[in-house]
Amino acid sequence: MAKPLIPRMHLWEIDDQPWFPPFLRAYVQTGLTHAWTTHIPLLQSSSPATLVANTLRRVLGNSVSRHTYIDFCAGAGGPTPFIERALNSQLVRATTSRAVPATASSAVVGGESKASSTGTPSYAAVANPSTKNTVVHDDGGAVDFVLTDLHPHVESWEAAAKKSDHLTYVSSPVDATHAPTHLLRKYAKTNGNDKKGIFRLFNLAFHHFDDDLARAILKDTIETSDGFGIFELQDRSPSGIITCFLFGFFILLIAPLLYWWSPVRLFYIYIVPIVPFVLVFDGIISCLRTRTPEEVELLLRTCGADSDGWVVQSGREQFLWPLGNLSWIICTKRAA
Ligand SMILES: C[S@@+](CC[C@H](N)C(=O)[O-])C[C@H]1O[C@@H](n2cnc3c(N)ncnc32)[C@H](O)[C@@H]1O
Repeated sequence: MAKPLIPRMHLWEIDDQPWFPPFLRAYVQTGLTHAWTTHIPLLQSSSPATLVANTLRRVLGNSVSRHTYIDFCAGAGGPTPFIERALNSQLVRATTSRAVPATASSAVVGGESKASSTGTPSYAAVANPSTKNTVVHDDGGAVDFVLTDLHPHVESWEAAAKKSDHLTYVSSPVDATHAPTHLLRKYAKTNGNDKKGIFRLFNLAFHHFDDDLARAILKDTIETSDGFGIFELQDRSPSGIITCFLFGFFILLIAPLLYWWSPVRLFYIYIVPIVPFVLVFDGIISCLRTRTPEEVELLLRTCGADSDGWVVQSGREQFLWPLGNLSWIICTKRAA
């Protein structure tokens, strides 16, 4: 990736400040969850959360089913419950389609997957419509997701976990620089011998860490996990900054539909517009704080743990036409 013209600046975000009232923080975080989960037809091919699920599936390939996904900075939940739903529905559909008779064969033709005349979807079609010249096969069914944070949001997580058999949470604080061994052991094993690797998720979180904290988190991650993914809705580009303004405008446009039942929220959106202001201000600061894949890799290679055998992959997926991009970095330990 070309080096951004804008240097990285570790400035502060309003939402991180201890003086920022918790009820306003909750409104801002709900706004961020909307950013992850909204799907506007014509402007978005899918929600960003679904894009993360598609990216995990495409990049991890066969090994996607061999992990438990632990969100180490889940905040109020963010996109993880939606990523879980999107990824598991793909995996379960793929498992079901694998069980169909051999006549339902699939082929990849000119970058597009074609199903047989039986109408059964091909593996590639189920995997990801944008997957080019790749047929993805999975080893198994649904995978488990776990929500954790240094400051657990038990109430929101409990509500999310009730909606899925594959989403759980840890109610005590979990520090991503010192992940408890018992927790990693517990989630590395599911059913008997069905051993899972730990895959850490950092959604809209990694840019919050200064270099020392980021190195400490990466060190702990590569010493105790099998892979990790950093997903950001912004980057250090002019288009990233313009997207933040568009997002503020979008919140102003859509708020009555989302919050007609909450005059207090509408007050803080329209009369004293703190919520859109913080979303745009923090969004721009987040752009300036977001690292390129090369910068993350430099931290990884200098974090003090043995990073030999760790492979870094990265990319950008458009989540909002014409400017909004999801940037992702996926690092995995090469199988011994
Ligand atoms: C911006 S919020 C996460 C947002 C959420 N993932 C989302 O997309 O809406 C960043 C989170 O990182 C957590 N955090 C900061 N330092 C941490 C650490 N050392 N270990 C675990 N979590 C940490 C904070 O408590 C906060 O909830």
